[in-house]
Amino acid sequence: MKLDNPFLIRGYAGPEYFCDRAAETQKLVSAISNGRDVTLVAPRRYGKTGLVHNAFRTLEKTHATVYLDIFAIEDLTSFVQTFAATVLDRLDSPAERVGRKILSFFKSCRPTLTPNNDGSFSFSFDLAPSQAKATLKDTFDYIASRKRKVVIAIDEFQQVREFPEKGAEALLRSYIQFVPNAHFIFAGSRKHMMDAMFVSPKGPFYQSTQLMALGTIDAGKYGQFAEGFFRREGRTFSEGAFRHLYERFEGITWYIQSILNRVWTHGSGLDSVQQVDDTVDELVAESESFYFDLLRSQTPAEQSILKAVGRQGVAKSISGGDFIRRNKLPAASTVRSAAAKLTERDLLYRSDAGYVVYDRFFGLWLKRL
Ligand SMILES: Nc1ncnc2c1ncn2[C@@H]1O[C@H](COP(=O)(O)OP(=O)(O)O)[C@@H](O)[C@H]1O
Ligand SMILES: [Mg+2]
Repeated sequence: MKLDNPFLIRGYAGPEYFCDRAAETQKLVSAISNGRDVTLVAPRRYGKTGLVHNAFRTLEKTHATVYLDIFAIEDLTSFVQTFAATVLDRLDSPAERVGRKILSFFKSCRPTLTPNNDGSFSFSFDLAPSQAKATLKDTFDYIASRKRKVVIAIDEFQQVREFPEKGAEALLRSYIQFVPNAHFIFAGSRKHMMDAMFVSPKGPFYQSTQLMALGTIDAGKYGQFAEGFFRREGRTFSEGAFRHLYERFEGITWYIQSILNRVWTHGSGLDSVQQVDDTVDELVAESESFYFDLLRSQTPAEQSILKAVGRQGVAKSISGGDFIRRNKLPAASTVRSAAAKLTERDLLYRSDAGYVVYDRFFGLWLKRL
């Protein structure tokens, strides 16, 4: 299907609209094909979800592919409900779905069959918390009983650490170990939480996966990708303007896609640095009232820190005397604990270079205050 706007700002629409990631895709496909589970970590908006879907394009030739995003899932019961239903939907042909066989696996909680518009059926589970663990086991038994190879991607996997049930990670790990025909991709945006599970010797998944960090797309390849769309439509494309855009957002995919998507909407070419900056301003201005409320909902100390980091761009030492004095911040210990809370809520991001405002558009808005 040809899209009116080739620059996606969410989802995946096939390789034509997906820039590069050839090596990363190959690495992911190779790991799964060779029986290695993968942990995929990068900050939000780099392109993890897109990469998983792109790798699925290849893997689906040999594997049943199962994808679930657990960002919004808050406890083990909801997790199992979603996991079991997604697995059933993806592992069977529509004809198999109505068969008795499936039902015989789910002793703890029977799935409900709901007809879809196209005549097929979907499963859903109405689980009581007391049935969660047993149904999780049933689901894994079911996966293991299938002859097919299966790849299961669980996106925003660090969320399992937030489940109120103790030991949810260890429970998952114990089942995952024993499904030889299924391999897993654990994607996550919160590095320290992912590290605690996969990298720390105390973590339940310690040394059980291949670790893969996702960087940004190469500037040259990204430029060519974008230029292709503009040129094919007879629109102009300035390499210098693209470079400026890429550098302004450190190559982070989503911001670049957002600006290109908007420039495309305007019907113009990508012409100048000024046009890029104007488009950035336009997008930031659109979220003004949202940013205003977001800022107001933080404590006064947190607000001052956000503004200070926004002004500075990158704050190398957030509790250093110089930074505190210049920005009239409270005592270093207060700044440290507030910064930790802001990081926890994904408002600040701590990179090797220092703290930045996680949402770069929000950062630009703060800078202007
Ligand atoms: N290689 C790519 N080429 C073009 N667009 C991409 C690419 N990777 C991701 N995107 C787009 O960038 C945005 C952010 O990517 P996403 O995969 O959702 O990031 P993450 O999962 O790391 O937060 C999405 O709109 C997605 O469509
Ligand atoms: Mg994602």
